[in-house]
Amino acid sequence: MTTSQDDLKKQAAEAALKYVQPNSIVGVGTGSTVNFFIDALATMKNDIEAAVSSSEASTERLKAHGIEVVELNNVADLPVYIDGADEIDEHMRMVKGGGGALTREKIIAAVADKFVCIADQSKVVGRLGRFPIPVEVIPMARSYVAREIVKLGGDPVWRQGFVTDNGNVILDIHNFDILNPVQLEQQLNSIVGVVTNGLFAKRGANIAIIASPDGLQFME
Ligand code: 5RP
Repeated sequence: MTTSQDDLKKQAAEAALKYVQPNSIVGVGTGSTVNFFIDALATMKNDIEAAVSSSEASTERLKAHGIEVVELNNVADLPVYIDGADEIDEHMRMVKGGGGALTREKIIAAVADKFVCIADQSKVVGRLGRFPIPVEVIPMARSYVAREIVKLGGDPVWRQGFVTDNGNVILDIHNFDILNPVQLEQQLNSIVGVVTNGLFAKRGANIAIIASPDGLQFME
């Protein structure tokens, strides 16, 4: 029997339960892999205090399971944040934001003590950047930011018809030759009008749970 990509996502998601600390608040990411994690978290909902959520979609799913969602501003201590990725390299640097939730994801990741990345093996890459880098932009700055990104060597494509949970737009940057992900993350952030970008290099994952047909691999 072949293992589907969804089976692998589910395996990685369920394995992340062991990093959830009893009686604590859990940081929850966004995406199809995280949806499996939310479903798994529901089995231990009475053991946790609450969740903080990185998107309206995750909030809705958490609440549907009867898991309380609290505002990040009211949380001082967040032991763990669990989220997927579009790409992850051997240094635990990631590209995220395929689902457009990158800004709230990056904020919660900054607060959390530990970032646990859950993914199937297709997300593991030798070098970041084949997946286009999402950049969240204030709407009136879209064209200016796009021109500045071209100067950095990328090809920005407006994700048409998509508005983030923060009311902003996304530019997906194709064809970046990423030699130094930390430097590029900083360069993108310094363009006026950019809210955040999907390179999670400065603050990467602390643990990655990668599922393949051969089993689970834990990277630290
Ligand atoms: C959403 C994200 C997701 O973590 C990323 O897109 C991976 O999603 P999936 O688990 O559906 O493959 O960054 O903004």
